[in-house]
Amino acid sequence: MKTFNALLTSAAVAVTGFAGAALAEEFRLGLITPPPHVWTLAAEEFGTALSEASGGEHTVTVFPARQLGNEADMLQQLQSGALDMAFMTVAEVSNRATDFGTFYQPFLADDMAHAARILRSDEARAMLDQLPGALGVVGLGYGSAGMRHILTNGGVTDAAGLSGQKIRITPFEANLDFYNAIGAAPTPMPLPAVFDALANGQVDGIDMDAELIVLLRYHEHADTMIETHHMMFPMVGLVSARVWAGLSEEDQAMISDLMGAAVDGVLTTYEERDAGWLVEIQGTEVNYIEGDRAFFGDAVDQWEAIWEERAPDALETLRGVAEATRQ
Ligand code: BEZ
Repeated sequence: MKTFNALLTSAAVAVTGFAGAALAEEFRLGLITPPPHVWTLAAEEFGTALSEASGGEHTVTVFPARQLGNEADMLQQLQSGALDMAFMTVAEVSNRATDFGTFYQPFLADDMAHAARILRSDEARAMLDQLPGALGVVGLGYGSAGMRHILTNGGVTDAAGLSGQKIRITPFEANLDFYNAIGAAPTPMPLPAVFDALANGQVDGIDMDAELIVLLRYHEHADTMIETHHMMFPMVGLVSARVWAGLSEEDQAMISDLMGAAVDGVLTTYEERDAGWLVEIQGTEVNYIEGDRAFFGDAVDQWEAIWEERAPDALETLRGVAEATRQ
């Protein structure tokens, strides 16, 4: 949002037709993660860095924990220009730009370090070029929320035990396809609703990353942790394309550099910390088992068959990147 002086300048811009001047801006950045989460901390750091780099001209107010709505709501706000910026799951983006669903090919990445290499590739970056046209947002780089695992109840020891279980998933198609293929009863639910649903027994289990299992103590409401690393879980730093169009080239470059660095730093944080969170979960009361691609029977093949039809080119591209970056 513009300051009063900036609004006056905006009026002048409207009259003179001179767009793209450097204006003092009070940006608003939304996310659904809670205040102590890695994404939220990175958003705060981005705000500080932007304020410093602009000599105090620009500020960023961070709205965590779904204060501005779910990601679907925030994406709409970005499109209209009512919201300036967001750090958002690629899951939400993939609901409207199908190619992004291919990041969720089960077992595309071996671990968090491999996921980070895929997300830092030129091919992954090139996919961001779709966003202004497809969604009315500008993507400035990828972060992540670690790898996905399954935390559940009922003394599950194999994939057959997941059959018919109500498993909370993040609401997006690629994840729905995977849990349908497993034979579970996938229950789409945004992150802020997960704790109550698990604690109240509204769902049997959850698809989740290690950080949040530890941070929000989901493990206290489950009996079995299945360490699977079955999907990567990318995040993207977004700016409203409408807001972007009103910025000077100098400000665009500054925001692009600083937000790109902030979300890339998130990748580094998960590379460094993901394994440690898993160790913490191993130290809790839950039964701890592991599951690889074979654990899920033919579910991964089923997923692949669907997506080879749905987004063949993007899938082939990311498979190539995954092979080239495998160590
Ligand atoms: C989730 O939906 O599980 C999720 C969303 C954002 C960050 C981490 C996890």
